[in-house]
Amino acid sequence: MPVSRSRRVTVERNDVSLLIDHIGELAVCDDTFTVLRHAAVLVEGDRIAWVGAAGNAPAADEYVDAAGRAVIPGFVDSHSHLVFAGDRSAEFAARMAGRPYSAGGIATTVDRVRNASDVELADNVARLVRQMYAQGTTTVEIKSGYGLTIDDEMRALRIAAGFTPETTYLGGHIVPPEADPDEYTALVAGPMLAACAPHAKWADVFCERGAFDVDQSRAILTAAAAAGLGLRVHGNQLGHGPGVQLAVELGAASVDHCTYLSDADIAALADGDTVATLLPGVEFSTRSPYPDAARLLAAGVTVALASDCNPGSCFSSSVPLMIALAVREMGMTVEQALWSATAGGARALRRDDIGSITVGRRADLVVLDAPSYVHLAYRPGVPLIDQVFRGGIREW
Ligand code: NIG
Ligand code: FE
Repeated sequence: MPVSRSRRVTVERNDVSLLIDHIGELAVCDDTFTVLRHAAVLVEGDRIAWVGAAGNAPAADEYVDAAGRAVIPGFVDSHSHLVFAGDRSAEFAARMAGRPYSAGGIATTVDRVRNASDVELADNVARLVRQMYAQGTTTVEIKSGYGLTIDDEMRALRIAAGFTPETTYLGGHIVPPEADPDEYTALVAGPMLAACAPHAKWADVFCERGAFDVDQSRAILTAAAAAGLGLRVHGNQLGHGPGVQLAVELGAASVDHCTYLSDADIAALADGDTVATLLPGVEFSTRSPYPDAARLLAAGVTVALASDCNPGSCFSSSVPLMIALAVREMGMTVEQALWSATAGGARALRRDDIGSITVGRRADLVVLDAPSYVHLAYRPGVPLIDQVFRGGIREW
């Protein structure tokens, strides 16, 4: 374990070059998981310009001496619901006392969001995004889905867009209590989509018993694709169902949760281009069985790990916690879990500029206060994030 503090710089502009030197372990996370020992990384502008052996690096304007620490790519948290107000701690406490999770709690947050000001919602997102940066996340996807009126969905997306280009229209989260299911589905696939599409990169639907059935989900997703949005699906969270197969059929970038999977679901994922995004914080916070990541990986499915940070099913913004849970509870090796939380998340967002430490990628780098990335799973709950660079700029 290194004893000296790593040297910290305050890089507030990225028109200077930065060398992170004396890296004990560099987790590259390219097409496969590889590690370089005694390495250095040169950043120029917002990009990685050089990766090689410590001591051999080109000169730079600024230096960080990692003093033997591990460096990993910034986490790509490809699934979150940060635009909300209030919390549902009472619902969590009731669950821990034995009550099961149901998607019904979503309506509580919808009510709070409709009554919240823009400033209150934006402040909530800002606070959670800061938390994420402090925990090593450098890219976050943010969904709407707690407004469920045209105006409230649109404002959620406008607020989210102030923090990330990875914005997702989730008008199809639940049917709000005041609405008729068929009329609401038509609204989500019609006028609400038209109003929201300019503010969103993606569309998502909660395809699950109690939310949207397969026909309703297909109608919404097909309309969203025609409006130019990429597709994502919440599927197979609460039980077996059609979400995974629908996501693959429509060429969605990702199907998220995947807690209950049949052999046919796994075969479809293995044959298709859809990433399976696993959200172990949800199983932790809802006391549900964890998905079997080892089964997916053995079948050749691309797996991502994300937080699903939301006030109901998982109010954690910590990707390191997700890595620890994936390793302890889902049959992933530390290497698989770290790859899935970085390169896997990038694939789930169809991004090839982030998620790995290779020349030309965005300089999203995390210096751990640990000699090895293994500590992410080995020391759960410990603040191991020493420094975070996002596009070459120091965020933490
Ligand atoms: O990803 N599954 C649906 N939506 C969220 C839950 C949101 C909530 O409970 O407020 C999820 O788990
Ligand atoms: Fe979610």
